[in-house]
Amino acid sequence: MPLLARLPPSGTLAVGDRVRTLRAAGRTIFNLSGGAPDPAPLVGLIPPGISPGENALGDPWGESFLRRAFAERLARRHGVVRGEREMVATIGAKQGVYFAALALLEPGDEVIVLDPCWVTYAPSITLAGGKTVTVALAGPDHRLDIEAIGAAVTPRTRAILINTPHNPTGRVFTEAELSGLVDLVRRRDLWLICDESFDLFVFDDGRHLSPGVFDAIRDRTILLYSFSKAFALPSYRIGMLVGPEPVCRLIATCTQQLISSVSLVSQKVACEAMAREDEWAPFLRKAYQEKRDACLAVLRADSRLEASPPEGTFYLFPGIARFGMSSDAMTAHLLESAGVAVTSGSVFGATGEGRVRINLVGPLPAILDGARALLGGLP
Ligand SMILES: Cc1ncc(COP(=O)(O)O)c(C=O)c1O
Repeated sequence: MPLLARLPPSGTLAVGDRVRTLRAAGRTIFNLSGGAPDPAPLVGLIPPGISPGENALGDPWGESFLRRAFAERLARRHGVVRGEREMVATIGAKQGVYFAALALLEPGDEVIVLDPCWVTYAPSITLAGGKTVTVALAGPDHRLDIEAIGAAVTPRTRAILINTPHNPTGRVFTEAELSGLVDLVRRRDLWLICDESFDLFVFDDGRHLSPGVFDAIRDRTILLYSFSKAFALPSYRIGMLVGPEPVCRLIATCTQQLISSVSLVSQKVACEAMAREDEWAPFLRKAYQEKRDACLAVLRADSRLEASPPEGTFYLFPGIARFGMSSDAMTAHLLESAGVAVTSGSVFGATGEGRVRINLVGPLPAILDGARALLGGLP
């Protein structure tokens, strides 16, 4: 079977298809499954011009001005010190995940991912010829279970792929959890891939810790960043992959062959966004923390929903087990009976069963309307 024929549709984006169909048929739908970011980016978004002299294919590593600015950002914000040859611009973190898998995996190699996790990881691993092995996060508070991850390592294991702040649970993994993982990666001679696309979305007194600060596995660590979430620029399709130079070189060659170079417009917008990060980051955190708290306050009116505050990201992941329905059934029920689109927890893995994911990306009034409609539509 051709590799592409094995790909399932995205369990998160499929909800959007359904929302579009129902809206086209005249239904009012409260979309708590995705949408355009609010607050919108600060950068004004008049796309910077491309002068005639610049209108050429660019550097497959990403332009030097972008990589310099990103290296400064990484050091300043996360204490991760990397040079310009230790990063490659990507068309969003999605391409970063896939190219990282292409760079690391031989056919049949295993990659351990967390359950639940973002829907894109397993298909990217499959397309790169690898095999996904899932390890559940532990307990209702979704802790990294280092012992269970260690037990899943086999001679074929090549990498562990994690995500912090974590979609869909909202966990922000602690220094103790990450140190345990780093130690395992070092002892078993693996790679650690960490998707940090939500690095600016950390609430209360929390702090995002990048595994890039652990020097013991510096030469076996790949970090993925996205401008879609942290800088609210999803349509510009831009991200960064940070890793050892030999891996970045493989990825730049692959970019040269498959993509040529990432859009220069997007690279310029990303740079403008980073230049205003000191103003943007606290504003973003405050806006999303307010949305999180206001939506939780509405949902808590029904004590059957088990809704605890996420430490980061812009998702709520409430438990719905007390309703005696599967996640898929609850999701279908909410859409059909209350016109509320949420994402079934089961699309993120077996551990997501018994939960639904609510996305706080849109404007607060629309989120609250959706949350009230959801409450009204509960069985
Ligand atoms: C964990 C995670 N990483 C990255 C992304 C964004 O990827 P991209 O930069 O390709 O838009 C998402 C989007 O939902 C995500 O959930």
